[in-house]
Amino acid sequence: MSTPIVYLNGEFLPADEAKVSVLDRGFVFGDGVYEVIPVYGRHPFRLDQHLDRLERSLAGIRLADPLGRERWREVLEELIRQNAGEGDLSVYLQVTRGVARRDHGFPDGVQPTVLAMCNPIAPLDPEVAEHGVAAITLDDIRWQYCNIKAITLLPNILLRQQALERGAVEAILVRDGLVTEGAASNVFVVREGVLYTPPTGPRLLPGITRDLVVELARDNDIDCREQDIPGEALREAEEIWLTSSTKEIVPVTRLDELPIGSGRPGPLWQRLYAIYQDYKRALREAAA
Ligand code: PDD
Repeated sequence: MSTPIVYLNGEFLPADEAKVSVLDRGFVFGDGVYEVIPVYGRHPFRLDQHLDRLERSLAGIRLADPLGRERWREVLEELIRQNAGEGDLSVYLQVTRGVARRDHGFPDGVQPTVLAMCNPIAPLDPEVAEHGVAAITLDDIRWQYCNIKAITLLPNILLRQQALERGAVEAILVRDGLVTEGAASNVFVVREGVLYTPPTGPRLLPGITRDLVVELARDNDIDCREQDIPGEALREAEEIWLTSSTKEIVPVTRLDELPIGSGRPGPLWQRLYAIYQDYKRALREAAA
């Protein structure tokens, strides 16, 4: 495979030639924000929504948008053009507060560092469609601005790693008795045929996939409520799903080593997953 091309501070160059200073505040402090945008058939999916969230994340850490909407579009289009192959991609982009001598306070007159790169994304594993995945519940140990998509991800990393070490793919987090989200995903629960997801706010990332699932459920007359979910309600759930830009909608069939519902991906997941794929197909065809 040829070396991927990345965008760094105005230039497109091979990943192994892209270099950032050791004084970059992203490296030293984790002082930056990011986005992950799926790209289907060369078209970034829900780009406006991702760029809106980027703007809110930048405002949340008091950093001016270094590019602006039009330039972001151009950069991403060119990056995708230079990296497009057979399969689908995701674009990872991050903006840090730039290079400065180490000091916690904001530096003056420093240019932010802008990086964007592509990664392949795999279609749903048939094994997951058939059997679902395992998750565990953990205490949500993160900070109080989880709505900001910050690159400072150490708590999420430690939580996800605990899940992996217990044979699960994700940690579902509970704060003050209420479900917030996964370590890198949003959570949906089905109870008595109704679909629930926690309301947005500072406790969780407003997922772009989450918002689309809510929208598609409502468009298809599925009762979907953005409502607090007590941690104990997870055990009684008929279905649990995880959503994210890279994994779409994943059915959880084991939680803390016990089966959820029938122990197989449920009928509502099958329905919503098919609706989601139809929606993607329609967009792809409209753009072709
Ligand atoms: N993460 N919550 C958290 C904490 C996340 O990190 C993510 C996604 C989501 C889902 O958001 P979206 O549907 O917009 O992808 C929710 C990305 C994929 C990542 O960090 O790689």
